[in-house]
Amino acid sequence: MAESWATLGVDLHLEPAGAGGLRRGLTDALRDAVRTGRLAPGTRLPSSRTLAGDLGIARNTVAEAYADLVAEGWLTARQGSGTRVSERAVVPPSGPARQPRVPARPTHNLVPGTPDLAAFPRAEWARAARRALTAAPNEALGYGDPRGRVELRTALAGYLARVRGVRADPDNLVVTAGFSHALRVLGQVLRARGVRSVAVESYGLDVYWGLLQTAGLATPALPWDELGTDTRALGTEGAVLLTPAHQFPMGMPLHHDRRAAVVDWARRNDSLVLEDDYDGEFRYDRQPVGALQGLDPDRVVYLGTASKSLAPGIRLGWMVLPPALAEEVIGAKGHADTVGVLEQLTLAEFLTSGAYDRQVRSARLRYRRRRDALTAAVAERAPGVHVTGIAAGLHAVLRLPPGTEPSVIQAAAWQGLALHGLSFHRHPEARAEHVDALVVGYGTPPDSAWSAALEALCRALP
Ligand SMILES: Cc1ncc(COP(=O)(O)O)c(C=O)c1O
Repeated sequence: MAESWATLGVDLHLEPAGAGGLRRGLTDALRDAVRTGRLAPGTRLPSSRTLAGDLGIARNTVAEAYADLVAEGWLTARQGSGTRVSERAVVPPSGPARQPRVPARPTHNLVPGTPDLAAFPRAEWARAARRALTAAPNEALGYGDPRGRVELRTALAGYLARVRGVRADPDNLVVTAGFSHALRVLGQVLRARGVRSVAVESYGLDVYWGLLQTAGLATPALPWDELGTDTRALGTEGAVLLTPAHQFPMGMPLHHDRRAAVVDWARRNDSLVLEDDYDGEFRYDRQPVGALQGLDPDRVVYLGTASKSLAPGIRLGWMVLPPALAEEVIGAKGHADTVGVLEQLTLAEFLTSGAYDRQVRSARLRYRRRRDALTAAVAERAPGVHVTGIAAGLHAVLRLPPGTEPSVIQAAAWQGLALHGLSFHRHPEARAEHVDALVVGYGTPPDSAWSAALEALCRALP
């Protein structure tokens, strides 16, 4: 109980509800949050309907907990302005500590990487799962094809061609447990082919560099400048790992000259491009940048995931392989590590019924609104901070005055924010000028907590 409450809408560190039941547990948790200042005076709480939805409990339970706290004076409820934390002064904890304390567990999560999990389309997914299971032949429940179910590979090939310009043949498409799984298999195959190093970007995720290193590959960093990753600097590496549509985390697409340069390099050098298209569907201001794979399907391995469009917990990803690589990759993956067939068939049904497109469209609208709110709030409250990388994706980069990144991260922790600075994403041998910045995952909080998270962020900015 404590775990699900802590991770859903109320966004509070909660102790176990104990024997007192849901209403009592929620009332205690909210009271504690107000008493300790984690919910600031004046903060507007989510409506009882929203909070109940986020927590997966009855609306009445939330309404009763709110009513208890209004009666006790911790909250106020007024027609038209909702339920708010009372304007009374917060009693500071007694004892010698005068420094603001960093909350034991952050109240708000703005770490990029996870979409709003409260927005997972549960009902649609459950309907698709039922339809998929009903229609599945008995044979589908066997060990099957190591590439994954043909229904999903066919649906994905069509979707990726239509939406991302990928040239995909279902025979060369392999379903994986997310991007990380695909990268691990590719690392093994590249090493077995005699490749010694895979170039990576100066900014990225160390877990992925680590996966390649575990396979015995060096991961040298490419230079980075204001146009993004400089692929013209590629040398004798056997492959390069890139985020061409939306550089993670900096946010720009790979410059068009450099897109062409990387494909030319791969052809000349008999190398491969590993294209991480982790959030390609989320572009706001114009048509998404098409997949690089469309330029040369013999040289580019296209890697996609449902971790942003649906949820990382369902562990579904895919790779579209150059024909000459397919056999080795399928052999290396084998049957042993595969994805549950029911999830695969459900995603296939989700794609063919149009539910996936609807989910992406509604998520795009939600995140676009948040992005606009973030940009407006920062412009008003912290004019010295510049929001960049906002044309796409679920995160933005907030450029800070030079030298301030560590102190802003500290201030954010005091505001109860889990947040990463740009230095967290910097390759240890980055060939890039140092930039002070925050990487803000505005897609992560549930709707009911988003305004409070944004308010806490603004309070932490210089
Ligand atoms: C840059 C990048 N690539 C890929 C992924 C997806 O990884 P996976 O499919 O393993 O969840 C993420 C998710 O956070 C990401 O940030």
